[in-house]
Amino acid sequence: MFLAKFVGCYKRFLMKKITLKDKTFRISIPYERISEAIDNMAEKINSDFKGCEDVPILLCVLNGSIMFMAELMKRLDFNCQIVSTKLTSYDGTSSTGKVKQALGLTADITGRRVIIVEDIVDTGNTIVELKKILAEAGATESYVCTLLMKPESYTKDIRIDYVAIEIPNDFIVGFGLDYDELGRNFKDIYVLDN
Ligand code: IMP
Ligand code: MG
Repeated sequence: MFLAKFVGCYKRFLMKKITLKDKTFRISIPYERISEAIDNMAEKINSDFKGCEDVPILLCVLNGSIMFMAELMKRLDFNCQIVSTKLTSYDGTSSTGKVKQALGLTADITGRRVIIVEDIVDTGNTIVELKKILAEAGATESYVCTLLMKPESYTKDIRIDYVAIEIPNDFIVGFGLDYDELGRNFKDIYVLDN
């Protein structure tokens, strides 16, 4: 009886779907798993930055990183400062290959260490552009921290310092990620349902 109820509940959860414009998405990564992965990542970052005498900057890459940034920063226990910027490269469900900076850095970062907080690393074009922007703006060092990574799609040499979850090369939404600006508000992650 209990087992049947549990299986029913689990099945319903797996079948949860959302529709955004012309596309349907099915659940892929539940919030509980995302939260646990961020716990582990925060533990590593805390240990690496433990006792630091500077105030590292957490760079929020708008808009996709907002939800991840909120979850990550409340788990960090060293003094840090938030700076934002906005980059765009996606059109619909694929990368255009061209990265545009839609909003400049919101504070001076000269002489500072910067932890880039990204929602997802896909081709890596955005990371290359971000590293360049930070070096030109006078950052002493920059690290990359991303909630998700698509290793099959990544083509660059830059080391990704912290990855919470690796995923296949599929299009996903939720937890900050969007399809034409929709779907960012969902706390679970959904994958395109073909
Ligand atoms: P990259 O420059 O190809 O690495 O792509 C990075 C950016 O593209 C991310 O910061 C996201 O904003 C967006 N992106 C990449 N993959 C996805 C996806 O599966 N869903 C939604 N946005 C994505
Ligand atoms: Mg992004």
